Amino acid sequence: PAKPVLFSGMQPSADSLHLGNYVGALTNWIAMQEEYDAIYCVVNDHAITSQFSPEQLHERTLATAAQYIAAGIDPEKSTLYVQSDVLEHAQLGWILGTLTGFGEAGRMTQFKDKSQRYGADKTTVGLFTYPVLMAADILLFQAKKVPVGIDQKQHIELTRNLAERFNSRFGETFQVPEGFIPQATAKIYDLQEPTAKMSKSAATDAGLISVLDDPKVTKKRIMRAVTDADGEIRFDRDAKPGVSNLLAIYASLSGREIDAVVEEFAGSGYGDLKKALAEVVEGTFGPIRERTNELLADRGELERLLQQGADRARERAQQTLDLVYERIGF
Ligand code: ADP
Ligand code: NA
Repeated sequence: PAKPVLFSGMQPSADSLHLGNYVGALTNWIAMQEEYDAIYCVVNDHAITSQFSPEQLHERTLATAAQYIAAGIDPEKSTLYVQSDVLEHAQLGWILGTLTGFGEAGRMTQFKDKSQRYGADKTTVGLFTYPVLMAADILLFQAKKVPVGIDQKQHIELTRNLAERFNSRFGETFQVPEGFIPQATAKIYDLQEPTAKMSKSAATDAGLISVLDDPKVTKKRIMRAVTDADGEIRFDRDAKPGVSNLLAIYASLSGREIDAVVEEFAGSGYGDLKKALAEVVEGTFGPIRERTNELLADRGELERLLQQGADRARERAQQTLDLVYERIGF
């Protein structure tokens, strides 16, 4: 039987992925490409709804794709492409926009949060209709499964409503997708503020571990990670968030249980744990960084892989859009 179609997008909104992205998202995407007909899209159409610079956006788009391939997204097994290479996204987005209530779109909490953050003069119609384009991204491929974080659940609900609305008005056309939260994975916290999640939007980079950073920078950040004064290596998120974060990272990158890691380091100092962690991080990120840099140095090969992905994605997107056009009398 055909594998179920899975769609997921990532914004090219940073120079490098960080450890949270790697553990929380990328490792799942790599694992899911076996079970699913997976489509992974670098969503640059979405990225221009926040402030951006064209040159930087172009570099980040390629670097994001390169890191995915380097980490294990197989462009033969999965469909990996850049959104703007497939114009059908925008075309279907327009059509779905005509089926979306103004009030319905206005209830999207992510829009409300972001527009408040950006200020009224920087809020655009594009940001407002972002969830409609996201619906188009998913419906274009007749995706059955969409892995999402909790913050995207409302957008998946809108996508389902639009699919059902279109189907009931114009006849069975779209697969109604299901959002799902992939198997529980470790949440990674900031090294300097270990009760806040590691995020590219953190006030400083001191708490980040990034895939593409120089290993010396990463080691320094790990050695300076916030711990506590009791000096004992134990896992206790409430009383010892810093040490617990280091233990959880060590466990997830070395594929071991936290208890086993605690046992290994019982009686050692925090410095020993940090040194060992820096080595495990480099053991994981070193080869990914090297492969990413090779891909970025050979633009021709990277662009060929992305073109191939776009060709495959376009062929599938066109089938859906042809059917949609027929249904609405175009
Ligand atoms: P950021 O917070 O850096 O802006 P995004 O919101 O772009 O990251 O998240 C991209 C993906 O990475 C999402 O699937 C998200 O769940 C995952 N992710 C981001 N930060 C973390 C983290 N600290 N721990 C685990 N997963 C994370
Ligand atoms: Na974010």
